[in-house]
Amino acid sequence: MIGSGLSRTASSSRRLPTFWQRSVLRTVAPAFSTASPPLDPICEWAASNVRYGPGATREVGMDLALQFRCRKVVIFTDPKVQTLDGMNVVLESLERQNIDAIVYNQVRVEPNDVSFRHAIDFLSRTDYDAVVAFGGGSVMDTAKAANLYASHDGYEDFYDYVNAPIGKGLPIPAGIQLKPLIAIPTTAGTGSETTGVAIFDDTASRSKTGLASRSLKPTLGIVDPVHTRTLPPKVATYAGLDVLCHAMESYTALPYNQRPAPASPLQRPAYQGSNPVSDVWSLFALETCVEFLPKVLADTNDDEARGKLLLASTAAGIGFGNAGVHLCHGMSYPIASQVRGYVGYDHVDHALVPHGLSVIVNAPAVFEWTASADPDRHAKLARILASHRLGEDHATSVGLADEIRLFCERIHVPLGLRQFGYTAEDIPSLVQGTLPQHRVTKIAPKPVDRDVLTNLFMRALDDTH
Ligand SMILES: NC(=O)c1ccc[n+]([C@@H]2O[C@H](COP(=O)([O-])OP(=O)(O)OC[C@H]3O[C@@H](n4cnc5c(N)ncnc54)[C@H](O)[C@@H]3O)[C@@H](O)[C@H]2O)c1
Ligand SMILES: [Fe+2]
Repeated sequence: MIGSGLSRTASSSRRLPTFWQRSVLRTVAPAFSTASPPLDPICEWAASNVRYGPGATREVGMDLALQFRCRKVVIFTDPKVQTLDGMNVVLESLERQNIDAIVYNQVRVEPNDVSFRHAIDFLSRTDYDAVVAFGGGSVMDTAKAANLYASHDGYEDFYDYVNAPIGKGLPIPAGIQLKPLIAIPTTAGTGSETTGVAIFDDTASRSKTGLASRSLKPTLGIVDPVHTRTLPPKVATYAGLDVLCHAMESYTALPYNQRPAPASPLQRPAYQGSNPVSDVWSLFALETCVEFLPKVLADTNDDEARGKLLLASTAAGIGFGNAGVHLCHGMSYPIASQVRGYVGYDHVDHALVPHGLSVIVNAPAVFEWTASADPDRHAKLARILASHRLGEDHATSVGLADEIRLFCERIHVPLGLRQFGYTAEDIPSLVQGTLPQHRVTKIAPKPVDRDVLTNLFMRALDDTH
């Protein structure tokens, strides 16, 4: 943990690195808070354990047997990922260590409360000593939730640990020992292998929400670029745009020391706001994603590009896992949840807006509006995005919002909420679904209310390149 503990004089701020200058200046003259709840001078970085490289999956049996001393393992996956060669690699690796494996393949693509509960019930009835999650964010998040509730029979209600105000948002009691969870991502997108977050579509509130606690972080992420070779183009594209937004939102989030101090350190949120360490991960992730996502989409056999993009996805996870995301994600939750007929993946038979697509469609409107909170930071991101068309270190006169539009145009991703069947009549309900997303709205760099969200959704409705 670090405390800012810095002198607040203008002369000392001149000697500080950029982030600290910004923080100090804002501490002296808060941009919008006139009330005086004490601010939190402390931030914390929770480590994520990651092993990276092609073929790393073959080591999973060794980890489970020799590091964690496990003999009975449940592998979470979904029906499509189960058929990939990588699944056999996982099974063979466990077999080599004489580990018993049970496969749970009923993860729903874009999970909801019903599918989470199904997985929790299954795992609670199963004798196991570790979990492997082999799949995209849907699989990893389902495995995290199932492992939490199955490791802990003392909870009263599923909503106890679900983010407030949709759930009770109780901290996960310190005494609960979660069983080891190894996450092996097969998409380059969510970074869930590094985060303490598990997201689901809450059918009752018609929005997405989730569980968020450092104790949900996977024990180990095995990040193996071999698996992403088989990604269908749409999955690769939307997952890549998720990386882009994780990086941009965490870098532009409210600085951690502008967030009200929690009543107790135990209540300090995992999404603390931008901070100097998350910044490093987020900028690396954005630069890498901007360079390699178009290359991956042009040629999925480009092993170097796929490896770099997956690395960007994991790095973005470490960045936003400690800083948080804000409005692009907050607005995406009802967009994904309230969709009626739009089926975003050819191989899935239920209506869904793929997560990365539901996020990127808000990005131009959001960053147009947030730019005034910190023009320098937004300009820096615009420069990085511009590098894909102008080359590195070229100045761009185009703002971040327009750079995002140009990037989407280049990779053929349409903007505008109308493509999902939404009209202006849906906006009050989309706003209603965003307002309770306190975990993310409260770290937006400017204060958010109903009118702000209405305007942002209106802008996003007809956005184009
Ligand atoms: N926990 C977090 O930190 C976090 C962060 C961002 C998003 N999410 C959540 O993650 C979910 C989205 O995850 P996602 O974008 O990784 O996609 P996904 O897990 O929903 O998978 C999308 C589709 O791609 C298929 N697929 C996955 N890997 C494949 C591969 N290698 N080859 C062929 N097909 C493959 C899946 O079967 C599925 O049909 C959403 O629910 C979102 O809310 C979580
Ligand atoms: Fe995301």
